Amino acid sequence: MKKIVLAYSGGLDTSVAIPWLIDKGYAVIAVALDVGQPDADMPAIQAKAKQVGAIESIVIDAKAEFADRFVAPVIKSNALYEGEYPLVSALSRPLIIEKLVAIAHEQDAQAIAHGSTGKGNDQVRFEAAIHALDPNLLIEAPIRDFHWSREEEIDYAKDHNVPVPIGKASPYSIDANLWGRANEAGVLEDPWTQAPADAWTMTAPVEETPDTPDFLELTFEHGIPTAIDGKPLPLFELIEHLNTLAGKHGIGRIDKIENRLIGIKSREVYEAPAAAVIMAAHKDLENLTLERDVAHYKPLIEQQLSTMIYEAKWISPLFDALMAFIDATQSVVNGVVKMKLFKGQATAVARQSENSLYNKDLATYTSADSFDQEAAAGFIKLWTLPATVFEQVNHIHAEEMNPHD
Ligand code: ARG
Repeated sequence: MKKIVLAYSGGLDTSVAIPWLIDKGYAVIAVALDVGQPDADMPAIQAKAKQVGAIESIVIDAKAEFADRFVAPVIKSNALYEGEYPLVSALSRPLIIEKLVAIAHEQDAQAIAHGSTGKGNDQVRFEAAIHALDPNLLIEAPIRDFHWSREEEIDYAKDHNVPVPIGKASPYSIDANLWGRANEAGVLEDPWTQAPADAWTMTAPVEETPDTPDFLELTFEHGIPTAIDGKPLPLFELIEHLNTLAGKHGIGRIDKIENRLIGIKSREVYEAPAAAVIMAAHKDLENLTLERDVAHYKPLIEQQLSTMIYEAKWISPLFDALMAFIDATQSVVNGVVKMKLFKGQATAVARQSENSLYNKDLATYTSADSFDQEAAAGFIKLWTLPATVFEQVNHIHAEEMNPHD
């Protein structure tokens, strides 16, 4: 019998996928990854896959690996798609596929299945990673193929003994992990409708946040946060801790109209409390420690990387080369940033570093000044020389000043 490895979440879509794949003649191996999605009951997810017909159900705790190999590069590169979205869902896809492909090889499976629709980015990310890691594997995408209405899906589930969520099903489509939560569909499909209170679960509304701020000191080593208030923590735990603390202050809400790689504009709301704190702190520490030319050039690379991660190019030579550039910049990004969490904002309020390039003797306006002010006048003459010569020859600005001459 041919075997297939299914990326399993425990939800209705990937659960009805199991009997559907069995009907197509596959023995199904379900694989669920714990990438820090809040409230995921992994033992229950594992049991459910078996209950609906998987020959095997595997759960992998991938939280530490997800943080260290996928979130860390995003922190170092301040990566935000279109300047806003911290790439939550885009990050887990390559890791999920790595695990599925390894299991397919161990178990001599011929195919991999995922539960993405045909309208989103995730199908591209899943399949790009499968093609890159083993182009001989067949791909099944039941949700994309069966075009069922919700009612038809529920009927199919009932006919095949797949438990259907009791009561009112969630009106949204959610994907979540350590780095945040993405929420789309339902009333959110109307961009003129404000996201209702129940669209948010990780963050308090700012109207209900504490009236006193929390302060915390975030230590960075080579661009990665390693301790909170001096207490060392593995990255995944540090992120979990900050999600709770910053969520309480309503930090990290994003309501975004987004350009999907398949061409559609969509409206999505995101919550990424820890990401908002860590990225603000990291950027602040870079301001203190990166040399000016590096600081000015790095955002070009960051933007390219953000787009590549979003657009399913995590596994690509350009991605690796750009990441090597980013890594080369991070050796000096060490130090401590003091963050204030208050009323929906994470703000850097103080910072220090052994690699600090801030030189008080140069910057000060007091008598301790060691900056050579005499040198400034000559410097300015040479700095402006090219534009001065151009203007003397062409009189462009002189004519604008005196249009009637
Ligand atoms: N638009 C985001 C992305 O493409 C999130 C998609 C996650 N899916 C969801 N059901 N909300 O990365």
